This record gives sequence, C-alpha cells and structure tokens, in this order.
Amino acid sequence: MESPEKLVEMRSITKRFPGVLANDSASFTLLRGEVHALLGENGAGKTTLMNILYGLYTPDAGEIFVRGRRVQIRGPKDAISLGIGMVHQQFRLIPTHTVAENIIVGARDVGFVLRFGRINERLSELIKYYGWSISPTSKVWQLTAGEKQQVEILKALYRGAEILILDEPTSVLTPQETVVLFQTLRKMASQGLGVVLISHKLDEVMAVSDRVTVMRRGRTIVTKPTRETNQRELAFLMVGRELSELEARPMAAGGKPVLEASGLQILDDKGLLAVKNISLRLFRGEILGVAGVSGNGQEELIEALVGLRKVRAGKILLDGVEMTNRPSADFIREGVAYIPAESLRYTAADMTVAENIILKSYRNRRFSKRIFINWKTVYDEAGKIIKDFNIVTPSPFSKAGNLSGGNIQRLVIARELNLQDNIKVIVAAYPSKGLDVASTEFVQRKLVEAREKGVGIILLSEDLEELFLLSDRIIVMYRGEIVGELPRQQFDLEKVGLMMTGVKGAEVKA
Ligand SMILES: Nc1ncnc2c1ncn2[C@@H]1O[C@H](COP(=O)(O)OP(=O)(O)OP(=O)(O)O)[C@@H](O)[C@H]1O
Ligand SMILES: [Mg+2]
Repeated sequence: MESPEKLVEMRSITKRFPGVLANDSASFTLLRGEVHALLGENGAGKTTLMNILYGLYTPDAGEIFVRGRRVQIRGPKDAISLGIGMVHQQFRLIPTHTVAENIIVGARDVGFVLRFGRINERLSELIKYYGWSISPTSKVWQLTAGEKQQVEILKALYRGAEILILDEPTSVLTPQETVVLFQTLRKMASQGLGVVLISHKLDEVMAVSDRVTVMRRGRTIVTKPTRETNQRELAFLMVGRELSELEARPMAAGGKPVLEASGLQILDDKGLLAVKNISLRLFRGEILGVAGVSGNGQEELIEALVGLRKVRAGKILLDGVEMTNRPSADFIREGVAYIPAESLRYTAADMTVAENIILKSYRNRRFSKRIFINWKTVYDEAGKIIKDFNIVTPSPFSKAGNLSGGNIQRLVIARELNLQDNIKVIVAAYPSKGLDVASTEFVQRKLVEAREKGVGIILLSEDLEELFLLSDRIIVMYRGEIVGELPRQQFDLEKVGLMMTGVKGAEVKA
C-alpha cells in the first residue's frame, strides 16, 4: 500500500520568547487523511508550534514543507493560500454579521452582492454535507458556541483549506456538540484533509485521532498511532510520571446553609431576563454542581452570587448576612472566592505574574505596611505559589499576558485559592477548562480539600464527568430556571443530559 502524502512537515522548529524556549527543535508531520492529536502539558508549546504553521509567528530556526515543497509562511495570508486553516480558542467572528458575511470577510472574493446567491449555495452544500444546522443567513450573535465554531470551520473550508488546525476546540462545546464536531473531523479526514487537534482530553484523543504527537517543554517527544497507545501511557508521556486517581468522597455537609439565594431574577447584558426565578441553598462542606448548556442563565447566576451582577429581584444571604446587590469587594471581604470562566479577562495582562497573584490580597498585612507594599515578601510568596501551582513562567516579573492559556488559568486559581484565609464560599466556573490532565487533577484536589475544610463550593461545568466526580448534589439549569436536582446517588449521564435539553426532572424516567 502506498503511504499517504505528507501534507505538512515541520523540521526542527525552534522558537524563543524572552526567557522562554517555547519550541525546542520540534518536528511534526501531518498526513493526508488523518486526524492528528497534539498533546502536552500547559505551556508545552502546542499553540506556538501551530501558530508558526499558520504564519502568526516566525520560527527562529527550522524548516516547513507543505505538500513536499519548502515554504516560508510570513503570515496567515500565506498560510491560507497554502490551504492551511486554523480555528483558535477565541472565535474571531463579527456578531452582528451573518454567517455568510463573516465567511466572506477576508476572502479574496469580490462582487459579493452579485455572487451572494452562489456563495450561499456553496455554503449550504458544505453545511448539508457535514450535517450541521446553521444557515448562511443567521446572525452570528444568535448562534451557540458550537455553531460559531462550525462557522469558523466553514470559513476555512470555504477558502479551500486542506490542512485544518483546531486549538482546543472542545473546551467550549457541550458533550452533544463534541459528538457532532468529531463526526465532522472524521468526515474531513475521509475526504483527504489533514486535521490537527490540540486537546487535553485524553478520552477524546483516543476516540477521534489516528495518530498522536506528545510535546514536553517545547520538544516533540513522540508520535504514535493512536491504536498503539492508551490514556494512561499518554498521560505518562506528557507529565513524565504516573497520575493518581482522585477519589470522590461522600458529602460531609449539613447544618446551616452558608449561601442562600431566593427568588432571584437577573438580567443579562442585553437586558433580557436570563435568570427567571431561582432559589438555592449551599451548605458548608458541600460541592453543588450546576449543569447546563452554556447560555441558560448559569453565568449570570454565578456573577450575581459573587457580586459582579445586580439582581432585579430576590435575595442573597451569605452566612445569614444580607448581601443582595452589594459591591463585589464586599463579597470578597466576606470570604467569597471566584474562579471565573474567562480567566484572561480577570487577569491584568500587562501586570507581572507576581502582581497578579497578590492583586486581591494587597491589603493583607503580610504584604503591606500601611500603604507601602513590601515587594520582597510579595516576590517570595509569589515564587512559592508559582512553584506550588506549577505555573510555567520565566520569572515572577514576567508579564501575565504572555503565559499559555492553561497557565493563566492556574494563575487565577492560585490567586483565588491560596491567599485568602477566610474563604467561606468558592464559586468556580469551568475551573479545569484549558488545563492539562495534571493541572486538572491538581485543581480538583484543591476544591476537594477546600470542601473538607468546610468551604461551600458552587461548581459550574459542562463536563459532566467532572461534575459527577466532584459534586455532592447537582442542579440542572435550562432557560433561566432549575429544571431538576439530583443527589449523588442518582447521578446519571443520560438523565442529566436530558434535563440539560429542558426535560424536567419529574419527566425523566428513573
Ligand atoms: N507571545 C508570547 N510571548 C512570550 N511568551 C510566549 C508567547 N506565546 C507563548 N509564550 C510562552 O511559550 C510557552 C509555550 O506556550 P504555548 O501557548 O505554545 O503552550 P501550550 O502548549 O499551547 O499551552 P496550553 O495548553 O496552556 O495552551 C509558554 O511558556 C508561554 O508562556
Ligand atoms: Mg495553547
């Protein structure tokens, strides 16, 4: 049998950033017709390597061949004309434009209006072929995260991409959307495309890829056919040690609720009622899981619970103290920690890593004498936290904005969990999003430890496995309401999955 064509060959790619060797003589080959998973711990250099292929960075050394020809890729334009497409973690779409308009922006097509019909026809064909449900005429703001991602993929395909790079595509998807994406990837591979899939989720990698490449500290350490490896070995290759399984323990909760909300009505950014009528109680030493497809009011709910969003009606009590519509600084002072979904937004990108770590606790006496900050103590402490949380950064003085996605997430978690002694409640939104296996385990362990100390935790996650592992109780949200509540003994994937689509708890057969 003839071996498939090499669509891409990257040889000995080296890329330095100030103080960091992001890619260290890394090599990577993508074959026609394969889904190739790219794995590695946070900061291993995956995004950098693929950004180089897409022309966003110029390598310091190394060679790139596309379909056997040596190429210089000076920017995304060069990449696109070589048939390379990339879907980033953050979508780059214009919300007020339609799907078709978004796809045409930047394409070399002229006479858009004239040929609009033809373009729509071609897009509809592609949409139908991949079995999607988006329409070329829908406005992007109306789409779910999964649909926006389809638009990004469609954009690449429409421009004739044969090589498609997806950077952690499933981190924004629901389990159902992930299934659809994987069908799409397999279809592309069977059409002769080459797909690069960056992911931290080993079960997904095992399910959808043909080959996997593992990176460690900027190097590509191994490439293997997926069927010749397993999750355990992959984790070992990435981390360089065996990982232990987290054991879930039964709830030790009870007594008075530490957080109590009743009759909440909350508006979203557009002024629409995102939370219609929600009441809940969180007990000490309890992890309350909140399941739901993103966009059903859960983001607005948790923002209200940490004082970042006003409620239109209802009451919030913390340890019996009325907190309704008080400023977020009061919530912090009263012991509410918040791990936000978009950690980047809650990081001061231009400040140093150390400054970010102490951001919330600079009034702490350890760091300041009256108004003067004791920088020596700050940097000592920061150094310790960087080590404890395994934050990959050249130094505590480096700009936080330059850290890899997973390391920014670790930074925020370190800041929230490490420096407050009086934490009563942790509100965690997608805390392991973007984290590699070792860090996910680390964060989950931190949450369990906090629970054991009596902290009440609200955990928002779209990863049902994570929710089932950690939660003592799960509530399911749909269209601004709680449609069901399950104690640990009744956790069931299908049941929760159904409730997430709006089937009420009582209607689900036990
Ligand atoms: N523009 C930049 N300036 C400075 N350093 C950078 C820049 N981009 C990446 N780095 C550094 O290069 C290293 C590799 O980062 P990269 O984003 O490629 O990692 P990754 O494997 O994608 O990690 P993650 O899983 O967390 O997304 C990290 O230490 C990161 O801080
Ligand atoms: Mg990355």
